[in-house]
Order: sequence, then C-alpha cells, then structure tokens
Amino acid sequence: MSSQSPKTTPEHKKNGSKERFSSSGFILAAIGSSVGLGNLWKFPYITGKHGGAAFFLLFIICLIIVGLPILLAEMAIGRGGRGNASSSLFNLSGKKYWSFFGFLSVLTAFLIMSYYAVVAGWTLHYTVQSFSGILMKPGLDYKSVFTGFASGYMPIFWQAVVMLVSGWVIARGVSGGIEKFNKILIPGFLIILLILLTRSLTLPGAMEGVRFFLKPDFAKLDAESMLIALGHAFFSLSLGMGCMLTYGSYVDKKQSLGTATIAIGLGDLVYAFIAGLVIFPTVFSYGLQPSEGVGLAFMALPAAFTQMPFGALFGGLFFLLLAIAALTSAVSILEVPVAFAMHKWSWSRKKAAVVVSLVCFFVGIPAALSVGGVLGSFQPGGKTIFDWVDYVTAYVLMPVGGLVVTLFTGYAWKKAGDEVGLSGFWYRTWMILLRLIVPVLIVLVFLYSVGLLKV
Ligand code: PFF
Repeated sequence: MSSQSPKTTPEHKKNGSKERFSSSGFILAAIGSSVGLGNLWKFPYITGKHGGAAFFLLFIICLIIVGLPILLAEMAIGRGGRGNASSSLFNLSGKKYWSFFGFLSVLTAFLIMSYYAVVAGWTLHYTVQSFSGILMKPGLDYKSVFTGFASGYMPIFWQAVVMLVSGWVIARGVSGGIEKFNKILIPGFLIILLILLTRSLTLPGAMEGVRFFLKPDFAKLDAESMLIALGHAFFSLSLGMGCMLTYGSYVDKKQSLGTATIAIGLGDLVYAFIAGLVIFPTVFSYGLQPSEGVGLAFMALPAAFTQMPFGALFGGLFFLLLAIAALTSAVSILEVPVAFAMHKWSWSRKKAAVVVSLVCFFVGIPAALSVGGVLGSFQPGGKTIFDWVDYVTAYVLMPVGGLVVTLFTGYAWKKAGDEVGLSGFWYRTWMILLRLIVPVLIVLVFLYSVGLLKV
C-alpha cells in the first residue's frame, strides 16, 4: 500500500492536525457516532412497518452498496487531506470550489447539532425522571407528560447540559476527550443493552414482538421501502455531514480503512438489530402499538415500563441507553464545526469548543421552544422550526454532502485508491459504485424525500 501525501500548500500547513486516535479508539468513536437515536427508535419502527426481516435484508444490501463505499470515501478524504470537512477536499484537489462544497457539510453538522442537542436533552431529563420514580407511576398519560415537559423551559436547561458535556469532551482533545469518552460509554452502552435484552425477551408474550420484527414479509417491500432503507443507511452511518471525514483526519496511516469500514458497518447493524429485539417485545408484551420517534420512546415505552416490576430501574436504564447513544453521536457532530473553526481561524481547541458550543446552543433555542413551547404555533409552511431544521438537514443538505464526497472521490481525487490501499477488482468495484450507482441512488432518494418523485 502506498500512501497519499496531501498537497503541501500554505492552507494545508495551517490545517494539518497532529492529533490522533488509537486504532481501537477510532473504531469505538466511529461506532459511537453511528449508533444513535437512528438505531434505537427509527430502525426498529421502519423495519416493523416495511416487512420485518425482509426489510432488514434490504437495509443490509443498501448498507453494503451505498453506505460502506461512502463511509470508506469519507474516512479516506479525511486521512488523505488531514484537514477539516472543508479544507481536506482542497488539500487533495487544490481547487477552491471543493472546499466550498465541503463547507456545506460543516454547516449541516452545525445545524444538526443545534437540534440534536435538544433531543439528547430530552433523553437526559427522562433518565433522571425514570430513575427517581417520578415518571413510572401507574395511570400517567404519557402524551400529556411529554407535551407538558416540551412546552416549558426545561428542555433548554437539558439542551445546555448536552452542549456543556459535548463541548467539554471536545475541548479535551481527540485522544484525551473523544476517544476516552467513547471508551467509557460504549462498553456501558453494551452492558445496558444486554440487560434490557434479557428483560424484554423474558417478558410474557415477548415472542409476538419478536415475530412482528423478524417475520419476513416480502409482500410489504415496495419502491418506498427501498428508498427508506437507503436513506436510513445513510443517516445511520453518520454520512453526508463531514463527521466520518473529520474523525478520519485523526486516523493513523497504519490503520486499515477497509477493516474499519467493515467493523463500523457491522457494529451499526448489530446494535440496530438488538435494539429491535429490545423494543418490540417490550411494546407488544403490554399490548401497546409501536409508533415512530418521539411517540415510541417518550410515550409508548414509558407506558410499558410502568407496568413492569422494577419499571423505574428498567425505564431509567432504557433512557440512559438513549442518552449515551445520543451523546456519543452529538460529540461526533460537534467536532465537525469545531475542527473547522480551529483550522480556519487558527483558534485553540478549547476556544473553538467553547465558542462553537455557545453559538450552537443559542441557535438551537428556537428549535427547543418550537416543540409545543412558546414557538410551537409558529409554523411557516406547516412545519415548526424544529421540523424545518430536521427536514432541510436530513433531506436536502445530507444527500448533497453525500454526493459531494461520492463525486469528489470518484472523479476529482485521482489517488483515492492509494489512500485506502485498494487496487484491482476491489478498487474497480468501489469506483463503479462511487461514480455511477451511488450518485444515482442518492439523487433518487433526494427527489423522493422532497416530494418530486412519487413511487
Ligand atoms: N448515526 C446517528 C444515528 O443513527 O442516530 C445519527 C448521526 C450522527 C447522523 C452523526 C449524522 C452524524 F454526523
């Protein structure tokens, strides 16, 4: 394997980062980024709705054909360019316009972080409320509990806590902060997940939930399932917003990016699968309906835990699981604009972490107040501010970010194969995917998401 050295330009000298992950630290941090709320509340639900195991199979295919090639490309650009999500593209191509396209990812990450911190904050609030027993009281109407909480000012307090924790981790650096944080939290996450798995599978009537999740129903697969599987593969692997690219810039040249790609993909898949085995039996065992997102985690599941012996403990563990998943992802999102600010304005890591976290916190406040709060009735175009930020980032900016990485690696960066150590058959396959198949699929998902393509 020959290694690609980035262009020695003044810009590169300014951007070159000396910080590095250890080999296992990088894999853990990348898994921490990819395993998030998407695995825990979105994946089980869409799988159940779109044909169970049949959809799972489709998701695996999308992960392999679309997700992994982009993941490899993002990490390679980061390591080859040794800059941030914007400057790495310039360092490798010498073209200013690529750094502009890369800058869009920085913007995407910043915007996503502003509202991701809000949701992460909800999970922290629910963790405290569950463990203290306040939430797990028989007869509570969880819909009103959630709207009561979301319409007040408490979400802003918890959003601030999330920004403080993520900013603090980032300020401590790559190995002393991000790596350490993931090394502590990911094993904890696995232990909690296994405790909850044992609990859910031993509940009376658990098998009905397992059947709902895993019974392959190929009749339910349609073009829409295909697009949803693709979009989710993208989101689940944290692609399209410079996140894996920025983490990639801290990876040692000795690390095999191919192995890392497979480990991250497998990790994401396994966690999503176990999450399904925790959530469906729990929901079904208590005769509740699995719903999506906010409804599932903050309304249906508390109702199930309340009826369980030691419900406060299991409910608390579940929300702690969500909180860990959200925090390890949040840290990876925040690192994108922080790395950019450090390089662009030659700021120290601490200064960049403090300033970016503060600005991000204030930008996120309107989103926090728009979920039933004082800004809840402000709905231009029929969407709240929260929904707008979510919509624009997930459906417009992230696919554009994915396309930039794909086209850059496929067409503009001639030595991508050297960086990842691929040649012959595997290199050709990677290139065919990046040049033709992946861009076409991304455009299809994009058109479908914004309503221009009906299936
Ligand atoms: N991959 C995370 C999830 O599945 O919840 C979400 C995410 C994290 C998306 C980091 C993008 C990102 F950069």
